[in-house]
Amino acid sequence: MVGNSVMETRFRMNFGEPLQVGEMLVVENETSPDRYLVRVMDIEHGADSDQKGWMETFAGQVLRGDANNVDYDLERIRPQLFCAGVSIPLGCIGSSFRKTKTIPNHFAKVRRTDITDYEFLKESLGDIQVGNLRSGDQVLDFPVGITGQAIPHHIGIFATTGMGKSNLMKNLALSCMSLRKYGFLILDPHGEYYDGGEAKKRGLKHAGKSDALVVFSSRKLDGPYNSLHLAASEIEIADLESLYEMTGAQKECMQSAQYTYGDNWLVELNDRPVGTIVKDLKEQYKDGTVSVIKRRLENLFRLDLITRDPKLSVTGNIIDALHDGKVVLADTSNMYEEEELLISTVLSRAIFQRNKELYGDKQRFDRLPPVLIALEEAQRVLTEAKGSIFAQIAREGRKFKTGLCAVSQQPKLIDTEIISQFNTLFVLGLADRKDREILKNSAKQDISQLENEIQMLMPGEALIASPFTPFAVPVKIHLYEDYLARELARAPPKAARTAPDRGFY
Ligand SMILES: Nc1ncnc2c1ncn2[C@@H]1O[C@H](COP(=O)(O)OP(=O)(O)O)[C@@H](O)[C@H]1O
Ligand SMILES: [Mg+2]
Repeated sequence: MVGNSVMETRFRMNFGEPLQVGEMLVVENETSPDRYLVRVMDIEHGADSDQKGWMETFAGQVLRGDANNVDYDLERIRPQLFCAGVSIPLGCIGSSFRKTKTIPNHFAKVRRTDITDYEFLKESLGDIQVGNLRSGDQVLDFPVGITGQAIPHHIGIFATTGMGKSNLMKNLALSCMSLRKYGFLILDPHGEYYDGGEAKKRGLKHAGKSDALVVFSSRKLDGPYNSLHLAASEIEIADLESLYEMTGAQKECMQSAQYTYGDNWLVELNDRPVGTIVKDLKEQYKDGTVSVIKRRLENLFRLDLITRDPKLSVTGNIIDALHDGKVVLADTSNMYEEEELLISTVLSRAIFQRNKELYGDKQRFDRLPPVLIALEEAQRVLTEAKGSIFAQIAREGRKFKTGLCAVSQQPKLIDTEIISQFNTLFVLGLADRKDREILKNSAKQDISQLENEIQMLMPGEALIASPFTPFAVPVKIHLYEDYLARELARAPPKAARTAPDRGFY
């Protein structure tokens, strides 16, 4: 170590010694058992010479030599050359792990880490395994996960397309299926989670955990699943508001219809002719207003999703499965965006409301597992802070054991107030500077100095920033197919059951 302050450690390396940005190293102190854990931020060239600009001067000699076909002797000067690493402190490892407040001795030895250096991390890493600790691009034999406590504090998964968001989601689901301690609802608009989507990929069904996975789908799947229906009676005005821009008159008209027709308002509005409705609502609303509403409802009812029979609704089953610590997959891949958003909204609201109701029943509430609702392309629904159920869950979910897991390739489009509620961030490779900036500002840990590193992340490489760990933890997310193979070898699935669990698959 050659310098230079508490907040920046510089060290010299032998010529040719490999080093990477993002690598974690240990600085040892001879006079105390404390070690310093640092992360490499940059690497610089250096040379021993009294002469200022000596490297440029030497390069000039080489070029002139080249022009005259004269060989130069790099071996001769090699002992003078070196690289210097520049690193920032992560913390001080002693009897406990703490913030760095002291400086190592002059010329302290800097070395690579081994897994025993990370023992202190074990207590802050959770049981929902996602990958292995990573130092630069070296993968260490040290599993990394997040804690279930993080669920109601919301989780964000952010990366440019192709950097590994879906793969990470599948890992989270597999870990949750193995644990049976957390409810995890995955809304899958791309149809990639059930069977992996592509021939060489694997999905949740391949885990063979039929007692931990419940599948709902609107398209035909190759395996057991339930079809996806919402009852007209469980759709609320607020749900429709999140789908359509509505004027004040339209909203009032619907409220009035709900008052007049009761629970069945949506069906009545759809079935009755405009004239009848206007009369029923005491001529308070214009034909035009009612027509607009009816046109939208027609669109909704045209779809297979909405049923008039409340008994066919899946909401109750989904909530039960989540409260039973299962993973629920809702495949909406053959739906129109409208329907898919309606499902997300209605289900999220129902889950949140149910948990809120149970809050009063302390004994039951205490036993309730935290529930995580994953939203793909989350930037679509996390845009405006006011009103939407997602904004409400983001703000209040923690009290009611309901967390959101936002998956997005454009975090910059998410409302800044909402994103600041997301306490655990999985930051994978992000090409766009604005996206990185948003995360930098909302992360609960200072990741401002990791800009270089985030740009260099390869698919599957991530940083987990969360208040539950002492620093943003670099991980290599497991490739799901590998993780699955290991899990299957460790705990082979039980023979398939003939009768579905609790009456539904
Ligand atoms: N953890 C990982 N390890 C190795 N390869 C990965 C990992 N995550 C993703 N990849 C590779 O990147 C590809 C895209 O990953 P995917 O999860 O579909 O990205 P996204 O959902 O962000 O678009 C995968 O098909 C896989 O080949
Ligand atoms: Mg994806």
